[in-house]
Amino acid sequence: MTQEEVFKNVVSHCKEYGFIFPSSEIYDGLAAVYDYGQLGAELKNNLRQFWWKGMTQLHENIVGIDSAIFMHPTVWKASGHVDAFNDPLIDNKDSKKRYRADVLIEEHAEKLRQKIEKEVEKAAKRFGDAFDQAQFVSTNPRVVGYQTEIDTMMQRFVAAMEAGNLEDVRQVILDAEIVCPVSGTRNWTEVRQFNLMFSTEMGSVSADASKIYLRPETAQGIFVNFLNVQKSGRMKIPFGIAQIGKAFRNEIIARQFIFRMREFEQMEMQFFCAPGTEMEWYQYWKAWRLRWHQALGLPAENYRYHDHEKLAHYANAACDIEFKFPFGFKELEGIHSRTDFDLKAHETYAKKKLQYFDTEKNLSYVPYVVETSIGLDRLFLAVLSHAYQEEKLEDGSERVVLRIPAMLAPVKAAILPLVKKDGLPELARSIMNDLKFDFACQYDEKDSIGKRYRRQDALGTPFCITIDHESLNDHCVTVRHRDSMTQERVAIAALSGMLKEKTDMAVALRALGTKVD
Ligand code: GAP
Repeated sequence: MTQEEVFKNVVSHCKEYGFIFPSSEIYDGLAAVYDYGQLGAELKNNLRQFWWKGMTQLHENIVGIDSAIFMHPTVWKASGHVDAFNDPLIDNKDSKKRYRADVLIEEHAEKLRQKIEKEVEKAAKRFGDAFDQAQFVSTNPRVVGYQTEIDTMMQRFVAAMEAGNLEDVRQVILDAEIVCPVSGTRNWTEVRQFNLMFSTEMGSVSADASKIYLRPETAQGIFVNFLNVQKSGRMKIPFGIAQIGKAFRNEIIARQFIFRMREFEQMEMQFFCAPGTEMEWYQYWKAWRLRWHQALGLPAENYRYHDHEKLAHYANAACDIEFKFPFGFKELEGIHSRTDFDLKAHETYAKKKLQYFDTEKNLSYVPYVVETSIGLDRLFLAVLSHAYQEEKLEDGSERVVLRIPAMLAPVKAAILPLVKKDGLPELARSIMNDLKFDFACQYDEKDSIGKRYRRQDALGTPFCITIDHESLNDHCVTVRHRDSMTQERVAIAALSGMLKEKTDMAVALRALGTKVD
């Protein structure tokens, strides 16, 4: 099965089992907007909690806020979003499809990188132990050719974007002979800039109404509250402010399910530090955030860094943590050293001082900021698409299983009486009533036990607790483990302890800590 087919199955699985539905589906949906169903909301909550605890509880100098979606319109002028939050768009005249010019170029570079990887793999096989990869990459004419093509293309693209020269951006696409993936032609229109912010009006009388924006990032709610939090919380630099909330972008190319949405949720943290220390903190957060991802329990090889060549208008260093989605490595989280750009801009536009007074040095200054920013929906997709597996079992049957890390699973335990009689439902209910205060549990007595196991596998429930006739006498139940499908007998009195040990977020958080080697 191709990765594309697997991804299609993930999308339909999400709908069938209540993880994600298209928004307003009875009206045929709304492009790039999705609703989370009963299990999706639970998984999302668990991911949210793991981020919130990791950032605010583990770091004594980080606090969380919840600012409004609507903000004064001048915020977006100061932040640069009114003038510069644009995507360069290009259309293919034959397919009538619209693309982001930067994405076309990035994807072309990625194809060339894959060609280099293939050459290296072939050579490694040919030369065996004697293979010297560094020498091969720097001398093999084909590899050197590909690398030069990537470097030249990216340098020209960055220069064209920095100069705001859209004709040159188009020329880069033409010179690289990039074709439309749909029509296969190079019949491109000119490149145009398109602002991504949604706007609406505030005020009931049109003459008094003012144009306001739906926030395109949560970060600005943190910047404008910097002094409020610093003063009311008596925070000392360095310190961070974290926030989770909705953001809105009028994405032109809304594809790949919840990867790129028009309404999505961000989890952002601005870390305020003294000027000159920002690179040290940038390195800290770059390393710590990757460790946080790995603490979720997905394999390390699914993550990689991508350092930015073209920096945003506010950054002096930036990188992405990319994840291996079914459609390739793509950005999951951004880490940016945003300098003092935002606070200084707000000082200018609001005509208010946004400075920190360092009592030890007897000095006031505008802090520098390192930002970590991750899309909750993208994180959801990373976890779910990695968890989804179609398996052929030894007896020839098949199952779909979501191997979601136990601490994140929407349902931690299913309580299953073997039959609907003989006092088994009553005992099962009493176990449920005991466990439900600490764990998300699901009670199910419908269908055969085999069918119920399959259903819980498909929901990602790590433990099935089966109550049988023996349970009435020995006060034990059968616990079936989702991943290995092995079963063990556990005393009813020991269930709560077992579930706590296996599903507690604190275990992963404790292992994570705050130090970076
Ligand atoms: N405050 C910085 C900022 O917003 P960004 O790289 O534009 O930076 C940060 O966005 C993260 O938000 C991305 O890494 C991604 O995970 C998520 N994100 C951005 N646009 C998104 C969209 N249209 N749909 C879903 N997630 C998105």
